[in-house]
Amino acid sequence: MRKNIVAGNWKMNTDLQEGLKLAKEINALVAKGLNDSNTGVVIAPPYTHLATINEHIDREKICLAAQNCAAEAKGAYTGEVSVQMLKAVGVRAVILGHSERRAYYGETSEILLKKVKLVIENGLKPIFCCGEVLAERESNIHFNVVKEQIESVLFTLSAEDYKRVIIAYEPVWAIGTGKTASAEQAQEMHAFIRQLIVGKFGAEAANNTTILYGGSCKASNAKEIFSKPDVDGGLIGGASLVAEEFLGIVNAF
Ligand code: PGA
Repeated sequence: MRKNIVAGNWKMNTDLQEGLKLAKEINALVAKGLNDSNTGVVIAPPYTHLATINEHIDREKICLAAQNCAAEAKGAYTGEVSVQMLKAVGVRAVILGHSERRAYYGETSEILLKKVKLVIENGLKPIFCCGEVLAERESNIHFNVVKEQIESVLFTLSAEDYKRVIIAYEPVWAIGTGKTASAEQAQEMHAFIRQLIVGKFGAEAANNTTILYGGSCKASNAKEIFSKPDVDGGLIGGASLVAEEFLGIVNAF
């Protein structure tokens, strides 16, 4: 059975002190036990917090993730952080292709493929984001947009490498806007994505793929969204910055 996952994407929020406090609060709540033993908890703090937070969480129960990584393995790339560096401080997953990275930092499928490959080569898991902007949904090309985002990166991987992939569907119009996709809209796209995977890697691989929903997900709406058969959890932005709210989402399962 595929795993449910609730991942907190802290984005560029909290300084080290605040971030450490938040991580400790989440750790304490997770230690009390989760409603569902098949649900994994992931947190993705800013780079500067990773090494410190890694020392203060129960690594059996919380997976430490990064929000990005370099597209090159090492060398003269000023300001970049490599997958190996992340791995060395306890990072086990990397969010890639977030719409903010695609829109503000020009991340193309070509760049993302390099990153995804490096993440997998180093034994980490990519949390690969896809999703359409509002104009694309309104002109009814959202399925094609997501298909292209997934095919151009994930479907160029070998079947073996693909096994490490986690997918996050995040309609861009729902991110940070307070406007959540309806549970039906999420289910519809998740089922579409799973069918694409069936076509490329087969039914077993599709069945084993965790597909997260992201976009204004909070404790009050998570239960309904997560109740859909193809929604296996969430990638949470704003609501992951308050420990009780975040755990409310985790315990929606
Ligand atoms: P949000 O962000 O929950 O604040 O909408 C989600 C995301 O960008 O991953």
